[in-house]
Amino acid sequence: MILETKNLEFSYPDGTKAVDDISITIPQGKKVSFVGKNGSGKSTLFLLLNGTLKPKKGKVLFGGKEVDYSSSGLRELRKKVGIVFQNSDDQLFAPTVYQDIAFGPLNLGYSKEEIDRVVNQMLDHFGLQALKDKPPHHLSGGQKKRVAIAGVLAMDPDIIILDEPLSNLDPVGADEILDILNELNDLGKTIIISTHDVDLAYKWSDYVLLLSSGKLVNEGTSGYVFSNDEEVRNSALKSPFILDVYRELEKRWLATGNAQPKDIPELVQLLHSVDLMRVDISPEVAVGECVNLGVLFGDYTKEGLYEAVNSRVLFKSDDGTAVVELKRRVLKPGAIHVYNMDEFDKAEFDKIVDEYDINFIGAMGKKSKDIAENNGIDVVCNSGVIDKSILNAITGSRCLILTSSGMVSHTAKRIREYIQNSGIRLIFSPVGKGALDINEENTQDQTDGLIEVE
Ligand SMILES: Nc1ncnc2c1ncn2[C@@H]1O[C@H](COP(=O)(O)OP(=O)(O)OP(=O)(O)O)[C@@H](O)[C@H]1O
Ligand SMILES: [Mg+2]
Repeated sequence: MILETKNLEFSYPDGTKAVDDISITIPQGKKVSFVGKNGSGKSTLFLLLNGTLKPKKGKVLFGGKEVDYSSSGLRELRKKVGIVFQNSDDQLFAPTVYQDIAFGPLNLGYSKEEIDRVVNQMLDHFGLQALKDKPPHHLSGGQKKRVAIAGVLAMDPDIIILDEPLSNLDPVGADEILDILNELNDLGKTIIISTHDVDLAYKWSDYVLLLSSGKLVNEGTSGYVFSNDEEVRNSALKSPFILDVYRELEKRWLATGNAQPKDIPELVQLLHSVDLMRVDISPEVAVGECVNLGVLFGDYTKEGLYEAVNSRVLFKSDDGTAVVELKRRVLKPGAIHVYNMDEFDKAEFDKIVDEYDINFIGAMGKKSKDIAENNGIDVVCNSGVIDKSILNAITGSRCLILTSSGMVSHTAKRIREYIQNSGIRLIFSPVGKGALDINEENTQDQTDGLIEVE
């Protein structure tokens, strides 16, 4: 059941226009946040959404139908759309916590047993068993909040609206409420919250609506809404902390660009790894100085593959070694070589593996695999060989594909096409005696495609 508004407007009796021409569709089954500074109209809009307030202009639609403001119409609406008020004192009124949570189910006509089951489930869920006989007005702010949320969830509404649900809650308590909300969302419920906690809205929400002075300023995925710095700033909010940290890292080339990490694991995923190595150094090199580690493999002068590395000394040990951070790397992209197993020659093969510094061997077809096995060749890949070789080569591996008869030219074609379409200048060369028939098209310039990392 979808909740919508069309040109919704509401003014309080003193003339304050709290909601000004808002037309929205709440995405069903999603986690939705309304964000906006104090007084931007969030609470007023929420009261309009569940029929507590009646609009002056425009309309609220539930399931495509305009809300019926008769008492029976409102009862129907509130069965489906539950609201937890910003101020728990507006919500709690029964003599005990138990009775307060039982109030909704009682009104919905549940049996006594059913009510008892539901209330106890809520008391357990929200850790309120010990408080069940206390009067709500004797509870702490956070405890009241939990009772209020439990009371609304006891009615099992399809759409749950929570006005500032985490205010007053301690961090662990807030996490517990979020877990419950996430679980309900997994069960298909639409969860709508309001908050000025930009970190929460950014991280938690599937969809964010930004309000300012009663108007809808922007809406969309949280990444989209919070990527507009100016709008966020103009609405007296700030950008999410994790996004700020990420942007600073990105500016310094410490993280991959153009992403929107939501949480620490996502941020960590985006970090460029720092390459550390322990190397021998001469005693006069000081901490902080740069050392050219030269060539890791291959040879500068030869037209082959090489990887050259500069590094900065982070830490020196007494034994003449140092931990260095690899600072600058110039490496050839990885390579894919194809070997025709129809012409297999053990001595030639071993020489190729050595010369091209092969560290990934894939075998295609039964014949290749059999020959490889009989000759003790260490095949690390025997399915999806072309794709896996390409993926490995992109990250610098030097791959050798063993193939035979009809598959040779197909393999060569696939790899050439990939190189052409992707623009990634992988080195590709057929090798060995059997290479002649696939070699003529291979005119790739071996000095192209250097990847430089600073
Ligand atoms: N009962 C009322 N009578 C008159 N004006 C009101 C009333 N309630 C709210 N307002 C005004 O309506 C505007 C919107 O208030 P609302 O409570 O909807 O904002 P909000 O976004 O929920 O703010 P907060 O983040 O502080 O909860 C404010 O300017 C407020 O002063
Ligand atoms: Mg409010």
